[in-house]
Amino acid sequence: MLPDASHINRYGEAEIIASPADHLFGKVLDLSENGLFLVDSERKIILWNEWMVQASSLKREDVVGSAFVDVFPALKGRRVETVINAALDTRTASLLSRSLNKAIFPLYFSEIGGEQQRIEQSVTVKPIQSEGHDYCLVQITDVTPMVQREDVLRVLAKEAEEALQEAEEASRFKSEFTSTVSHELRTPLTSIRGSLGLIASGVMGTLKPEIGRLIAIACNNTERLLFLINDILDISKIESGKMDFVMGPVDLKVVLLQSIEANQAYGEQYEVKYHLNDVVDGTTVYADTDRLMQVLNNLLSNAAKFSPKGVEVDINVIRKDEMIRIEVRDYGSGIPEQFKSRIFEKFSQADGSDTRQVGGTGLGLNISKAIVEQMSGVIGFNVPEGQGTIFYIDICLFKET
Ligand SMILES: Nc1ncnc2c1ncn2[C@@H]1O[C@H](COP(=O)(O)OP(=O)(O)OP(=O)(O)O)[C@@H](O)[C@H]1O
Ligand SMILES: [Mg+2]
Repeated sequence: MLPDASHINRYGEAEIIASPADHLFGKVLDLSENGLFLVDSERKIILWNEWMVQASSLKREDVVGSAFVDVFPALKGRRVETVINAALDTRTASLLSRSLNKAIFPLYFSEIGGEQQRIEQSVTVKPIQSEGHDYCLVQITDVTPMVQREDVLRVLAKEAEEALQEAEEASRFKSEFTSTVSHELRTPLTSIRGSLGLIASGVMGTLKPEIGRLIAIACNNTERLLFLINDILDISKIESGKMDFVMGPVDLKVVLLQSIEANQAYGEQYEVKYHLNDVVDGTTVYADTDRLMQVLNNLLSNAAKFSPKGVEVDINVIRKDEMIRIEVRDYGSGIPEQFKSRIFEKFSQADGSDTRQVGGTGLGLNISKAIVEQMSGVIGFNVPEGQGTIFYIDICLFKET
């Protein structure tokens, strides 16, 4: 027997509610914080709890006993009807997923001041069997606060994305600007250095000593400017990810000897000699030759600059499992304690004063760090026993595959 709508009690339940316990059950349903209604196999609504009365503004006596599609004519043929039919015909349960900004049933709650606000819903549809009859329980949860929070989060995420785009654009502009200006400066400076070099060499005629001195100062300063511009270009390449690396097997001894040779003259200015300790012949690392030499040049020039006159700089190669450590050890004054944490930062020099004794811009170690890390290596320094500093780089041994 199907429940008869004429026996509907005040809770909206049909025959299924008969005993005092059932009345209590009806009250429990009315206290539910969710919307609940029950559809029978004839697609009639036979239970309609208080939450549904409030949210739909449809009285229980007007709904109970009516066909589902008569109560919700707009839902005829929609997915929710199909899902209710599936619960009743094939006993299939469904979650009508929470649809953002799209309420499934026309339900509203009243705001203070009489304004009505649509209820965002999460709807589950479940089959129930009782005494040989099939029913379908529809449960509605109000997810409006969650949806509103998601809306706010979406707006915030969009704003954050826009801000990020703007920042990226500004940073791209800055790095393009830096690189264009540096390139534009480099060409005329290179030509000025060439011309000054020719004049200084005397090919244009012997110079009066005071003119020779001025030309030498000009040559020196042009050289320094070129170093600075090349460093700035390198940094802008690193920051925009445009620094190319040609990685491959590199014979370590060959590269070390070349670096020492390239720095020999520089070392002589400071009366410093480089000494390469034993390197196993054929030691091959995985690196970019030119970039590795760039890092070594900076470590070797730093060691000379910050060493006392007449002292050696030692270069050691140590194997550590699959890595090779290259150490450049000097016997200079060491790194001041308060400077250690800033040493790899841009433009950072322990002595940044105008009266400092040695040249440089404080970019060398910053660039070296970026290069070594790009080659999957590590750069650092140790304070050895006695005087001086050990700067080291750890890079991978080359392995034939
Ligand atoms: N071997 C060292 N001994 C003592 N101090 C050092 C040594 N190497 C680097 N430093 C300190 O770290 C600072 C930064 O070194 P970095 O190579 O970055 O710059 P720089 O040599 O001053 O200039 P650049 O390399 O750009 O020409 C140096 O100015 C110096 O104060
Ligand atoms: Mg340097």
